[in-house]
Amino acid sequence: MSSVKNNNRELVINELVLKDNRYEIDFDDFEEKLKESKMFILCSPHNPIGRVWSKEELERIGELCLKHDVLIISDEIHADLTFENVNHIPIASISEDIAQNTITLMAPSKTFNIAGFHYAFTVIKNDKLRRIFKNWIQRSGLYLHNIAGIIAANAAYKYGKEWLKETMKYIEDNYNYVKEYFEKNIPEVKVTKSEGTFLVWLDFRQLGLSQNELKELLEKKAKVGMNSGSTFGPGGEGFMRMNIATSRKNIEIACNRIKNAIKGL
Ligand SMILES: Cc1ncc(COP(=O)(O)O)c(C=O)c1O
Repeated sequence: MSSVKNNNRELVINELVLKDNRYEIDFDDFEEKLKESKMFILCSPHNPIGRVWSKEELERIGELCLKHDVLIISDEIHADLTFENVNHIPIASISEDIAQNTITLMAPSKTFNIAGFHYAFTVIKNDKLRRIFKNWIQRSGLYLHNIAGIIAANAAYKYGKEWLKETMKYIEDNYNYVKEYFEKNIPEVKVTKSEGTFLVWLDFRQLGLSQNELKELLEKKAKVGMNSGSTFGPGGEGFMRMNIATSRKNIEIACNRIKNAIKGL
């Protein structure tokens, strides 16, 4: 959001809608917003709400962007982090026309926890767009990659498959643990349905606290640090984002502390 504004562009938001604890795209609003936009930034899979967009949703997004001549920037950094039986589909794989209208951003940093190497890559099938992008990279000096990052990325993609499979199983089990724990012990807080990533989007709105009060309660009383929902834009107020890429023991401690803090209200 800040990049758009910092580049002196106008930010237009298509708010996601929460239905039965699961987020969906409001396609009517999406099409309206496309009419006044030049570029659409897609987050797929979605951070913070954990949706892995279906083929039908991606087709609809892609077709509408073509119809209104809006370039797609698809941030697919969480592509490898899907739960069992959920497949990530790159939007550029939907059709050749959509591929020609898409810039895909990816990185091994989240998947293999190597953000410190500062390595990411871009997939651009369209020759003209690729040329423009490369020229910009060249002009701004961003082509100077970290050599260790290239080696780490290669090693991770070459040898990391089994590790990732086990890690995702562990993270999905953590998600199920959090979901069941909250349903049983803190039913006033809803755990939204997730299909991937290592982030859990928690709905605290029923407690009736302001975002600041909620943050205070969690940080000062429960001593559990989470990201405030409001920092993710409109519709995020009353929510918190929890990172579950940690040991089950830590998750258990965090859940217990949140429960005790809420019971003490
Ligand atoms: C959706 C998404 N895209 C991009 C990034 C940036 O990742 P990196 O700085 O590792 O390239 C993040 C990290 O928070 C993210 O969640």
